[in-house]
Amino acid sequence: MKTTEATVLDESKIHEPTAVAVVEPAIESRPRPTTGVKEAKIYIDGKFYSEANAKVSVLDHGLLYGDGIFEGIRFYNGRVFRLEEHLNRLWDSARSICLEIPMTMRDMTEAVLDTIRQNRLRDGYIRLLVTRGVGNLGLNPAECKYPSVIIIAATIALYHESFYRKGLTIVTCATRRSNPAALNPAVKSLNYLNNVMARIEANLAGADEALMLNDAGNVAECTADNVFIIKRGQIFTPPITAGALRGITRGIVFEIAGELGIKISEIDITRHDVFVADECFLTGTVAEIVPVVKADGRLIGNGKPGPITTRTIARFREMTRETGTPIFAES
Ligand SMILES: Cc1ncc(COP(=O)(O)O)c(C=O)c1O
Repeated sequence: MKTTEATVLDESKIHEPTAVAVVEPAIESRPRPTTGVKEAKIYIDGKFYSEANAKVSVLDHGLLYGDGIFEGIRFYNGRVFRLEEHLNRLWDSARSICLEIPMTMRDMTEAVLDTIRQNRLRDGYIRLLVTRGVGNLGLNPAECKYPSVIIIAATIALYHESFYRKGLTIVTCATRRSNPAALNPAVKSLNYLNNVMARIEANLAGADEALMLNDAGNVAECTADNVFIIKRGQIFTPPITAGALRGITRGIVFEIAGELGIKISEIDITRHDVFVADECFLTGTVAEIVPVVKADGRLIGNGKPGPITTRTIARFREMTRETGTPIFAES
């Protein structure tokens, strides 16, 4: 084969660093996204650190293997929304993966509230992680003796208000939701690559979210949200066994449906059911309740957020404004 100019090796250059490596700034000095909080304080194992100094070991299995669990929690108007439910789910995730959370639920509640106070926020988002902790390079969690607790407070607004008025577009992705027998989606683990792969597909397709199916070809959930459809005045959502997280917001939709006297059922849902639905919406702590108006190029209903979705959103917003665990004594 003829050797081209580009492939000829100049041996005198082999040990020289490349120009890119020399001029590239250190990671610390690169511009990067932040929590959005001025002088943020991040909780790690009982102490608060500035954002620049909040660090974990490269030997933490949370980093090496995605071995750990997390919760995403919202607080509104000086109150943490559904904190107890989030902590119960965190403890369930921990139990499922044999991870011992190194503090009581009461102390965790106080740590969450204290982190929000330290960051002087009344509205925002908490990311609470428990990592397996430092071990060796082998994956055996038995080597990790001390799990780490990290709590990050951030400001948040995922979707612009116009999305709630106009609705989202979703596409079905080829990436299947993890089979519960392999890695149960009911565990909110630090291993989100399955969801990330689906999110990449949505990005490449120019859609707002990816609809993930399970191995049977039924709807499981979206990358960070549960899925609901409405047909002839009734609400339907896939059961947890279809491969969905037991979403806290999902549970609230059941409460609201009860209050409004709307029948709601867990049932296997196909893509066809989504295409012919009168309405569709997604639920999640970050997204809250957001209408979907197009799936795989088909308009859902008349292509506008429907009446049941709109009523459910309105009631949900009332609940977020009026309920929750007070952060400050005066709340
Ligand atoms: C995969 C997945 N499904 C659903 C949800 C919605 O759950 P929740 O309403 O508790 O935020 C989330 C968000 O946490 C998620 O990550």
